[in-house]
Amino acid sequence: MHKTIQPKILYFGTPVVLISTLNEDGSANLAPISCIWWLGQSCMIGMGTHSQTVENLRREEQCVLNLPSANMADVVDRLALTTGSSSMPEYKARMNFTYEPNKFERAGLNKMKSELVAPPRARECPVHLEALVRGEHHFGSEDSQLVSIELEIIRTHMEEKLLSSEKRHHVDSDKWKPLIMNFCEFYGTGEKIHHSRLADVF
Ligand SMILES: Cc1cc2nc3c(=O)[nH]c(=O)nc-3n(C[C@H](O)[C@H](O)[C@H](O)COP(=O)(O)O)c2cc1C
Repeated sequence: MHKTIQPKILYFGTPVVLISTLNEDGSANLAPISCIWWLGQSCMIGMGTHSQTVENLRREEQCVLNLPSANMADVVDRLALTTGSSSMPEYKARMNFTYEPNKFERAGLNKMKSELVAPPRARECPVHLEALVRGEHHFGSEDSQLVSIELEIIRTHMEEKLLSSEKRHHVDSDKWKPLIMNFCEFYGTGEKIHHSRLADVF
């Protein structure tokens, strides 16, 4: 029996990403997001415009997408309810967000120099994707404060032990354990449940 509901959120489960960007003074910001999907060598992220990250992406047009693995949920959770924006928006103040200019330190992550973009990578994350902003689109209802931002991945760094032993430019999907945000809670993925014929042609 299906019931009609009015869900407050529709977060059906996507990987968590820690996005690093540069603030105007050259310091680094790091923010957890989970609205993301991938196509070819690009991806689309969804963000609220009252964030330091969107301000930084608009100005610098560069970022690093750092993907934590499932065993890093506690690290990500340290960044929850924080913002790198000193002018806290009203709705975040009501939700008890705090201003945190030192996000890497707060999370207990170390900065690592990127190769093609200025924002640093988060060393402890097994995946680092250096990216350029390629477009921004208003998202949702006319009065929403949401945008989707298209990013082109220009360099990919993978923890070596996650690579396929036969194909050196392939990630072994049995080894990569993403951290998934499913209706605002943290989950891992289980074991592979069925071979996919699509995998045979890539
Ligand atoms: C696990 C997790 C996932 C999140 N996903 C998103 C998201 O996809 N888009 C978004 O705008 N905010 C998301 N947030 C909230 C942002 O992290 C929050 O708005 C934060 O203040 C942004 O930081 P900044 O202001 O320093 O950029 C998420 C938070 C957590 C903890």
